[in-house]
Amino acid sequence: MNGKFITFEGSEGSGKSTQAALALEYLKSKKLPTLLLREPGGVKISENIRKLLLDVNNTGMGDECETLLYMAARAQMVKEVLEPQLRSSKIILCDRFLDSTIAYQGYGNGIDIKTIEQLGLFATKGLVPDLTVLFDIPPEKGLGRASQKKDRIESRSLEYHKRVRNGYLDLSKQYPARIKVIKVDASVEEIFKRVKVHIDAVLDL
Ligand code: TMP
Repeated sequence: MNGKFITFEGSEGSGKSTQAALALEYLKSKKLPTLLLREPGGVKISENIRKLLLDVNNTGMGDECETLLYMAARAQMVKEVLEPQLRSSKIILCDRFLDSTIAYQGYGNGIDIKTIEQLGLFATKGLVPDLTVLFDIPPEKGLGRASQKKDRIESRSLEYHKRVRNGYLDLSKQYPARIKVIKVDASVEEIFKRVKVHIDAVLDL
């Protein structure tokens, strides 16, 4: 792959989407060919799957179905844009990727992590981010900042969201070269300065 792949991860209300948008603006200002995607979503079929996943009326969705739907959305996004765009030397920024499934469905719901990794390999064709920026915020704080109208995942218990956060922190210890943790304890601008250090390093800017 000739391009670079950077993901933004974190629990609810961590501000990662705002930071991803700032990163896009920054790289565009440098005239670098950059695309911003989100998961689940990024392409039409995956955005449709997103609606199913986040719909609060889907109360009966099993953990297995949920895991497979996140993977299905990912597989389509990878095939339709991520892989071809990386091949044509683009910089891809993605708001969430496979680490989200490990944190939310693995640590959160208790789905076997090895199974998620195997499904992940299938869905992503083995594509791994060059850099993952993980925005860390205590869930008590983050859930307060998240949108008023909670979706199917946001509505889960504080205990669930604590497991998700711990999952992310475990992942950052397993992959310290790839996953950089940024504490959400400063202004948006201040936090972006920290993000920029990692982006500049991975892109040799
Ligand atoms: P967003 O709010 O960051 O757009 O993400 C949508 C929701 O989906 C969020 O609550 C996290 C959740 N999610 C998972 O549970 N597993 C996944 O694999 C992904 C990508 C997101």
